[in-house]
Amino acid sequence: MQILGIETSCDETAGAIVEDGRRVLSNVIASQAEMHGRYGGVVPEVASRQHLEAVLPVIDATLAEAGCGWRDIDAIAVTAGPGLVGALLVGVNVAKAIAYAKGIPLISVNHLEAHLYANWIDGQATHEPPPFPLLGMIVSGGHTDMVLMKEHGSLRRIGRTRDDAAGEAFDKVARLLGLGFPGGPAIERIAAGASVPNLRLPRAWLGDSDDVSFSGLKTAVLHVVRGEKGPPPPVAETAAAFQEAVVDVLATKAAKAAEREGVQAVVLSGGVAANGELRRVLSERSPVPLYVPPPALCTDNGVMVAACAYYRASSAGLDLDVSPNLPIA
Ligand code: KG4
Ligand code: ZN
Repeated sequence: MQILGIETSCDETAGAIVEDGRRVLSNVIASQAEMHGRYGGVVPEVASRQHLEAVLPVIDATLAEAGCGWRDIDAIAVTAGPGLVGALLVGVNVAKAIAYAKGIPLISVNHLEAHLYANWIDGQATHEPPPFPLLGMIVSGGHTDMVLMKEHGSLRRIGRTRDDAAGEAFDKVARLLGLGFPGGPAIERIAAGASVPNLRLPRAWLGDSDDVSFSGLKTAVLHVVRGEKGPPPPVAETAAAFQEAVVDVLATKAAKAAEREGVQAVVLSGGVAANGELRRVLSERSPVPLYVPPPALCTDNGVMVAACAYYRASSAGLDLDVSPNLPIA
């Protein structure tokens, strides 16, 4: 079964064709990061316009790269939410129009659930899909959610952020440090050049809760940058101390929840899962095998949408609407 996945929920216009939920036949991404970088963050109206320009060329390129025609496509999957309303509308309307015109079934996909499915993609011959039950951690620009997944389609959210998403914290702190957008890769790059930070930033543990909070950490960085705690340390050191604090909280919470719930695997995904320190520390602390997609499949893409659709097959009608605030479960 060959599914075309379309993703336009934020600032990536992406298409992919995936066979049987695991084999990538094509993967095309038109990123708007450079454009939004000029404004220091994603501007929703700009994103919608960019998606409109890019979506048809991206879909053409997705078919061409796979050597497929429309007759080879068994279903069209599209992200219906959560995300920016104007951005989602572009993908959903294009998917509906093609489904109608070509008579191909339409499948609606939850963007957060899709992030997890980047871990089902066949990377190497030895790569088996993650075993159930598993603990899923989605750390993206807009969300930070921890879920228990018993099987495909059976998800329960056990934790979330109470304020900023992990990626949002990276982006905002990068801005404070003058490092540009998107902040995650910029902070990781500069932190890699820093020695072990003397600076120790606060962690919000929130007792035994599986929730996280990053706004206090962000404010602590602001105080450091303003010199309220003494002469500000070099930017690289502050970046490293910030990254260390975020990674410490996420890895500790995920490892604890995995232990308590008796899962078989921890499955990490979302843009922040591209972070090498998070991958390293969580794999050290996790009591069960850690699954993380290759960095290119952590950030938004069409592959995860097509893969998710294969396992979920939640078909949609042509009255499908966008759900900007759709929760993961
Ligand atoms: O999943 P994603 O592409 O989009 C959303 O669904 O939000 O995540 C984007 C987020 C941004 O906040 C970006 O700064 C962060 O992921 N990110 C990273 C890294 N690469 C991307 N954060 C930390 N380290 C990275 N290497
Ligand atoms: Zn995402």
